[in-house]
Amino acid sequence: MTFKILPLRTFMKEQSEQKLYETFLNFSCSRNKSVEKYLRETAVRHERARISRTYLILDTEPEEQLIGYITIAMKCLNVGGEQNNEELIKKMNVSGDIAQSYLIGQLGKVDGCDKKIGEFAMDFALDVIEDASELIGCRVVRLDCKDALVKYYEGKGFSFLNKNSSGNLNRMVMVLA
Ligand SMILES: CC(C)(COP(=O)(O)OP(=O)(O)OC[C@H]1O[C@@H](n2cnc3c(N)ncnc32)[C@H](O)[C@@H]1OP(=O)(O)O)[C@@H](O)C(=O)NCCC(=O)NCCS
Repeated sequence: MTFKILPLRTFMKEQSEQKLYETFLNFSCSRNKSVEKYLRETAVRHERARISRTYLILDTEPEEQLIGYITIAMKCLNVGGEQNNEELIKKMNVSGDIAQSYLIGQLGKVDGCDKKIGEFAMDFALDVIEDASELIGCRVVRLDCKDALVKYYEGKGFSFLNKNSSGNLNRMVMVLA
């Protein structure tokens, strides 16, 4: 394995604003522009406000470079009105239609990277979430993805819950044992 994780907050402490800006400007993700935009425009602000935690994924060979990132946050999940997936919903500790959840808010890799990083990133994020869950509780992990990625995330242990309110994204859920 040639990948390494660098928490964004460590990068922010160690590097100048200029270096941060240049590094993120070089991060292009054509398949999902919102992944590119989040890193360039929002991740640092959210890190400072403790809204989310972003973890940069570096390739260490042939030289250290940013190849992807994953972002974790907390977000309420409204399951009101849901008739499907009752078995799943039962395990989600729902109260007043709301389940507390850990959100995988972003996951992406840079254009041109042909190494598989998804599994490494997801395993890392689930380890972080498992630690947080041990300390403070909450058993639901969720993410939103487009149709093309539903199978991909099912392969990583997530189940389809429902469509978001605009109907363009699928809400995927994992319930920790
Ligand atoms: C999602 C991602 C991190 C997975 O990386 P990975 O584990 O290394 O795996 P791959 O890049 O090979 O992608 C896995 C499969 O998903 C497909 N895929 C990935 N992102 C996709 C997208 N945005 N739209 C459509 N298909 C996509 C790939 O074509 C690939 O399909 P294949 O197995 O038939 O070849 C990476 O593909 C990526 O950065 N995608 C663009 C950003 C994105 O869409 N993030 C997900 C937000 S929910």
